[in-house]
Amino acid sequence: MEAGQLFNMKKSSHANFIPLSVPHLEGNEWKYIKECLDTGWVSLVGSYVERFEERMSQYIGSKYAVACASGTAALHIALVVSGIKENEEVIMPSLTFAAPAFATRYVGAWPLFMDVDPMYWQIDVSKLEEFLKTQCILNKGQLINNNTKRTIKAILPVHLLGHSSNMQPLRSLARKYKLIVIEDVAESIGAEYKGKKIGSFGNLGCFTLMAIK
Ligand SMILES: Cc1ncc(COP(=O)(O)O)c(C=O)c1O
Repeated sequence: MEAGQLFNMKKSSHANFIPLSVPHLEGNEWKYIKECLDTGWVSLVGSYVERFEERMSQYIGSKYAVACASGTAALHIALVVSGIKENEEVIMPSLTFAAPAFATRYVGAWPLFMDVDPMYWQIDVSKLEEFLKTQCILNKGQLINNNTKRTIKAILPVHLLGHSSNMQPLRSLARKYKLIVIEDVAESIGAEYKGKKIGSFGNLGCFTLMAIK
């Protein structure tokens, strides 16, 4: 199919439905894209990648930022660098996009789904506390799930639909039970919790620039 035909097909099909997202480019964006193409640095590295990483860490208030291929890749890398291994468990909300569960399986670990609260639909921290208190045991710095006998290594709050999870009590629980916190901020980039950008509360925060975000 010719490029022109494809364009016309897209145009006419757009007339019949409301698109989920429409690309919006303005200001210097075309200029920067051209500049990037002109330099030939169009892949993993280049000045724009460095600038992006610097600006992103400034914006979020984190010490570092590393660009990855996607939000799913970021989650996968975060789990690898956190040392999550086969047959360990990662706590995450039961209402979630699939990527955090997929990334957990990529490293051979298991998602452990926790209910979400009815008000904000984020991981329910009081149910999490109850679970940790009554169904787990902390043995020599290792948290064991009494039901599965597996080690629980991390909490992965997924901040959904522009909201934030309740990070203060969640972090206290993580500290108490020796758990790593990996935030999935794919749906809530720019959201704040107690005046601070989310993604800066955990050991690592993962974002995406996927088109609908
Ligand atoms: C909560 C959540 N996590 C992770 C992802 C994965 O991001 P990506 O599509 O860039 O892999 C998405 C959406 O795409 C998401 O909504």
